[in-house]
Amino acid sequence: MRSRIHFVLMLAVLAVAGCSGPMTWMQFVRYEPASPTVSGDPVHGQEIFAHGVNEAPPCSTCHQVVAGSSGFALGPNLAGLSSRAASRVEGMSAEAYIIDSILYPKDHIVSGFRDIMYADFAKHFSEQDMADLVAYLMTL
Ligand code: HEC
Repeated sequence: MRSRIHFVLMLAVLAVAGCSGPMTWMQFVRYEPASPTVSGDPVHGQEIFAHGVNEAPPCSTCHQVVAGSSGFALGPNLAGLSSRAASRVEGMSAEAYIIDSILYPKDHIVSGFRDIMYADFAKHFSEQDMADLVAYLMTL
């Protein structure tokens, strides 16, 4: 019983300690659209897509953006993504699905593809980078 109380207390301390440090929105945003305070720049988003940023692997390593292309790529062709994204997961907006696909690629696996998308983008992208990337993807 005593050790159980200690355990609960420890959890409470950990929870408080966890909340005191600086946190990025990405630790919390799950199924939520990007913060409305940051407006995205699709031109910079395209740059990140093609070349990466802060040592993140470029999206273009695995994704093409070519309408109608049947060329080989490890990931789905992202042409037309913004309209498709809205109906991928019931109850999720296109923007929320796109954010989730980038930060938590294991949440939903596109049928016909393998679960090999790089899963650590949250460690590389700032809030602004993420907003820029989403702004670009929403133009596709
Ligand atoms: C190592 C290869 C790889 C990299 C790098 C990668 N992806 Fe992916 N991505 C995949 C694969 C494979 C899938 C399909 C499986 C799945 O759903 O996780 C996918 C799925 C997606 C989807 C869902 C598409 C749909 O039609 O529902 C989006 C959106 C996406 N990736 C965006 C990105 C963005 C943006 C980046 C760069 C920040 C990126 N990916 C980098 C391999 C990759």
